[in-house]
Amino acid sequence: MDRRKFLASVGGASALAVMSASQKADALEQAMSAELETRVVKSPICNNYGFGQPPVVRGGKLTKYFHMGHDPRLPLMSDKPTLVEFFDKRLGSVQHLLQSARLAKINGLPEKMVLACLLHDIGVGGLLRTDHGFWGAQLIEPYVDEEVTWAIRHHQSLRFYADEDVGYPYPEAYIRFFGPDFVPEEYIRQDAEYARNHKWYMSARQICINDVYSFDPNVTVEIGDFEDIIGRNFKQPAEGLGYDKSPSAHMWRSIIFPNNFL
Ligand SMILES: [Fe+2]
Ligand SMILES: [Fe+2]
Repeated sequence: MDRRKFLASVGGASALAVMSASQKADALEQAMSAELETRVVKSPICNNYGFGQPPVVRGGKLTKYFHMGHDPRLPLMSDKPTLVEFFDKRLGSVQHLLQSARLAKINGLPEKMVLACLLHDIGVGGLLRTDHGFWGAQLIEPYVDEEVTWAIRHHQSLRFYADEDVGYPYPEAYIRFFGPDFVPEEYIRQDAEYARNHKWYMSARQICINDVYSFDPNVTVEIGDFEDIIGRNFKQPAEGLGYDKSPSAHMWRSIIFPNNFL
């Protein structure tokens, strides 16, 4: 980005001079996203677990080792982590997930769909916002019923398309988030069309219907309220999530050790 524009955004060269390296990095990122004229939201791996990146000094002598292993700034995870432990110690957007699952329960959905609502945005809260339905589904695939992951994967596209007949209008929040003229990418449209014609369409749609956008501040939901449903519907590996050599074990490990250099 243009250096003069950046300096103006932080209040001039003297203001920049008194900033720490990480403040400068934050300011630069903010200025660059302002220039894009859209709000950029980084992955929770960067936002929640990262603490601003110091600039990488190339060619110089290292004065510190790179971080590996458990990050002392984060809650220490056990050597056999459970899904509930991830809720307690790592995941973001937890109230959104809990309140969505609570609503699904009130609406009388079967247990596996309550679980689907409980985990529907685990991709957002644990890994990446972009393509969150796909990331989230892949993360939990070895441990849940196939219909649960199918529904989570495809709620991502269906949420952009209203189906008033089953009680799902286009979310008012999306007009605020993305503007009134937002049109989803073609791959999203194609995915929604595929999902619309699938036998499990209503399972994915139920996630959208029970997606709680505005939280009720008078309601407190705890992950403990769902421990029975998790116990019956989520195959917790004895070795712990991340250490069971499943096809998604590395994804859980990345959440345990988000700041490892390698
Ligand atoms: Fe979602
Ligand atoms: Fe959601």
